[in-house]
Amino acid sequence: MSYKQSIDNCLGEGRLSEAQLAGALGQARLGLAQLRAWHGDGSLPLLALPGRRDDLEALSPVIASFQEHCTDILVLGTGGSSLGGRALCALAQPHGGPRIHFLENVDPWRFAQLFDSLDLERTGVIAISKSGGTSETMMQFLACLKRFRDSVGDAGIARRFTVITEPTGNPLHRLADEFAIPCLDHDPGIGGRFSVLSLVGLLPAAIAGVDIGAVRDGAAEVLEAALAADDPKDSAPALGAAVSVALAREHGVSATVFMAYADGLRETALWFRQLWAESLGKQGRGTTPIDAVGTVDQHSQLQLWLDGPADKMFTIVTAPSLGQGDRTDPAMLSRIPELDWLAGRTLGDLLDAHARGTADALAAAGRPVRTMRLDAVDAPSLGALLMHFMLETIIAAHMMGVNPFDQPAVEQGKIRARAYMDETRGTER
Ligand code: PA5
Repeated sequence: MSYKQSIDNCLGEGRLSEAQLAGALGQARLGLAQLRAWHGDGSLPLLALPGRRDDLEALSPVIASFQEHCTDILVLGTGGSSLGGRALCALAQPHGGPRIHFLENVDPWRFAQLFDSLDLERTGVIAISKSGGTSETMMQFLACLKRFRDSVGDAGIARRFTVITEPTGNPLHRLADEFAIPCLDHDPGIGGRFSVLSLVGLLPAAIAGVDIGAVRDGAAEVLEAALAADDPKDSAPALGAAVSVALAREHGVSATVFMAYADGLRETALWFRQLWAESLGKQGRGTTPIDAVGTVDQHSQLQLWLDGPADKMFTIVTAPSLGQGDRTDPAMLSRIPELDWLAGRTLGDLLDAHARGTADALAAAGRPVRTMRLDAVDAPSLGALLMHFMLETIIAAHMMGVNPFDQPAVEQGKIRARAYMDETRGTER
């Protein structure tokens, strides 16, 4: 397995008792059984992705074309259509390939600024929307169509754009057809925030140079272990779900902090935040996810976590960093005794020490702390981590009695936004 999870510091005085954990594990067992059933009958296509390679082969020409012709790629889309790709692209090494820009928002200033810096002759666009009707994505798409039409013409658009959407007559598909833009199918059975291992997350990642086969390999390890586990304790996601749900239920833990000690996992923390919030926040249930990066958030949120309300669970994600990176020159410190302890040490040494120090301090303050140690910040480990949290979320939802795959409440804001658009029509200039 490309990571190790420890929940030892979630147990004990003021945290979970063995009996409380055992009770939750009994429920997690049922969640695992549900996963096994879905895997068996194919009704949750997400679970088939780690074992597939045929779809990746089919993507190869698309990837090669973007890599060959583009210096920049705009990825249009929001929420689950964007965050998975962002998490994976954060792994990419500079390789001389295209720069990937995730637009996500409809911020007019950022849009204008970005376009000022682009050569549209050498810019590709990937528009992603499962429903093909999300207003922000459609607005981004329409704005791009106009800019590109003015610059490279309709034939240029057909060569530079690709759309990923459900194979239905949705607005995005219809517009793509009008402009002869190729459409790749978004599997209707895979929801946005569970789509990172599909072409939604993997296409941008592959263009950026990430080994997407290795991402799937890492995910497959976690899935296989979960499906094979007789005891939920043998499946890290089931154990994680049991701890999380039991802490909420038995100890009023209402927030869950995901803190990664690696800049390469900053976007993964955002991806987790959306997955957890949108999947579980229903019917008065759910816990509030908080994304954080170590050591940065030690200087931002840690005071509250250690000394504020005891209402949070912590997941500290690390990868080996000891001995990594730039090393200080001891000669520079010969007359600065206060910094003696940094002499001859590396950036990675300090990152490692702070990760351990923070986890220990939280545990010593009686806070429930889970640690997840990746083998490396690389494609297999990230694939494993992503699969871990998708499974943990689904199992937690099962235990909480909520449907992880819908988000009915967010419609309310969309309906009002539509009304405001109608109300302000004609008054905007
Ligand atoms: O996870 C989800 O289902 C959502 O966050 C969607 O991804 C988001 O609303 C965008 O939807 P769509 O892909 O249909 O444009």
